[in-house]
Amino acid sequence: MRKDQYILGIETSCDETAASIVKNGHEIISNVVASQIESHKRFGGVVPEVASRHHVEQITIVVEEALKQADMTPQDLDAVAVTEGPGLVGALLIGINAAKAFAFANGLPLVGVHHIAGHIYANALVQKMEFPLLALVVSGGHTELVLMKADGQFELIGETRDDAAGEAYDKVARVLNLPYPGGPHIDKLANESDEALQFPRAWLEEGSYDFSFSGLKSAVINYQHNAEQRGEEINPNHLAAGFQQSVVEVLTTKTIRAAREFKVKQVIAAGGVAANKGLRNSLEEAFIKENIPFYVPPIKLCTDNAAMIAAAGNSKYSAGHLSDMSMNGRPGLELNSWN
Ligand code: KG4
Ligand code: ZN
Repeated sequence: MRKDQYILGIETSCDETAASIVKNGHEIISNVVASQIESHKRFGGVVPEVASRHHVEQITIVVEEALKQADMTPQDLDAVAVTEGPGLVGALLIGINAAKAFAFANGLPLVGVHHIAGHIYANALVQKMEFPLLALVVSGGHTELVLMKADGQFELIGETRDDAAGEAYDKVARVLNLPYPGGPHIDKLANESDEALQFPRAWLEEGSYDFSFSGLKSAVINYQHNAEQRGEEINPNHLAAGFQQSVVEVLTTKTIRAAREFKVKQVIAAGGVAANKGLRNSLEEAFIKENIPFYVPPIKLCTDNAAMIAAAGNSKYSAGHLSDMSMNGRPGLELNSWN
């Protein structure tokens, strides 16, 4: 019988300091996330220097807490997986240095994980991933359609040409004076709304799986500014609903088309914006009609966490891809296959 495999995951690429222990790539033993959202709120977005300082303060506590909650010692672990990129370089480096020190001190192998691979593998924590699989990755920094023909294989079939979906959510939220991060607030207003304003949909060239959200973002912001200049009150719910409908319709339509073309066995959604109720409902309904299984992790596994890094790290470690002590933070790291 194969021995159980325990991976410690560490994630510090943006504004969460997180550590987690995952068994055999799918069972969460502990999952600790220290959020910095409160500190960034007053600036209306993530301030890199503030993020780095928080990571330094939190990282040791969070790693110790992950071991404590799991009731494990470093000797019980098989490897340490850490987010290598993309992300804020100063923030990444804190997790990477902590992972290196931990691995070195305890004689453990080190595995560098791509943040988006992590978001995708959050799904392995809730169901068995079956291939070929299509992943819609929607976060603060990424909007991508990724085709996986096998475990550890990634083909980018579409991506945003400008803003990421989460970025557009956050910018529109700012115009409406909603707190950072704005995505969940827009989602709430949109769901409470009985009416939606009409905004454009960016389909791009026929057949393209790419996305664009900056035109929509500008249209929404202009609408708000014009109304302000005329001294007119706008209903923020109607505006939020109109914006969300446009984002959700484009994401859903392109995901369905790709799922059909590549005849996938499974469709999954990943990343912070996959926490969006409107998007989850739209994809769920659409894929029931398509008769293709669709999965999305619970909200706390959609936003940044280290269990997803441990899950992806488990697959990469099992495939024999290890990193060494020269690992560096790579803000522009590409999503490469490891199988
Ligand atoms: O994946 P994530 O936690 O961090 C990145 O890797 O970027 O995603 C954060 C993004 C933010 O832009 C946030 O506004 C968005 O996810 N978000 C949402 C919702 N919850 C978080 N966007 C729309 N609706 C939500 N419910
Ligand atoms: Zn993320």
